[in-house]
Amino acid sequence: MPVHTYQPTQNPRIQSDNEFLHAFKDHEFDQIYPEDISKLSPCHWSPVEVCQMAALLLVLEPGTRVLDIGCGPGKFCAIGATTTRGHFTGVEQRGRLVKAARMMLQRQGITGVEIVHGNITELQFGAFDAFYLFNPFEENILPILQIDGDVEMEPRLYDDYTLHVQQQLERMPMATRVVTYFGSCAEIPECYTCVKTAYEGMLKLWVKTHPSLENE
Ligand SMILES: C[S@@+](CC[C@H](N)C(=O)[O-])C[C@H]1O[C@@H](n2cnc3c(N)ncnc32)[C@H](O)[C@@H]1O
Repeated sequence: MPVHTYQPTQNPRIQSDNEFLHAFKDHEFDQIYPEDISKLSPCHWSPVEVCQMAALLLVLEPGTRVLDIGCGPGKFCAIGATTTRGHFTGVEQRGRLVKAARMMLQRQGITGVEIVHGNITELQFGAFDAFYLFNPFEENILPILQIDGDVEMEPRLYDDYTLHVQQQLERMPMATRVVTYFGSCAEIPECYTCVKTAYEGMLKLWVKTHPSLENE
């Protein structure tokens, strides 16, 4: 994992002043979590610098509502909320990660973030403006990516979740923005175009550039 530089911008929603806000390397940021969760970071949680870039690409104006699809312990949401003027929601199916995310946000005094305990299939995307995905569903088809045995994992779930995201993104208005980090990007419908890449193509910004078939 390369060393990432993290320079948080000034944001009035930051109410506490502690190490977290001055973190500039991933391993320093990740110390905020209990060990069983921080040790998962190199493989499963987005690097600090990636979170910051993705948030800046998604939040074009104050109040932009961003959904992190499978938010883990809330790292992207926390960094997004402290470096932009967007509102961040994370949905996460694993209870222990939801608990870790909420505790971290509370301890750091970070507002403007909501963590929903549930499955992505329960969410309608109309309540959001922009979306972030870092490999949420691959663990159903790649055993090496399985975080734990706390949830059901099956190849058919990969298909179900991917299809749900595809269908929801298709219904979004033109110019909707999505950032993906790693992954096959199978969740992105054909009406979206990749307009920017970073980190050797691993991070992609997608914009809805064509009407979906459903809307034609
Ligand atoms: C690779 S981690 C990424 C975490 C976070 N987005 C980040 O970038 O740091 C993917 C997360 O998605 C969650 N996830 C997978 N499938 C999900 C589903 N169907 N609904 C909600 N969360 C899901 C997993 O539990 C895991 O925490």
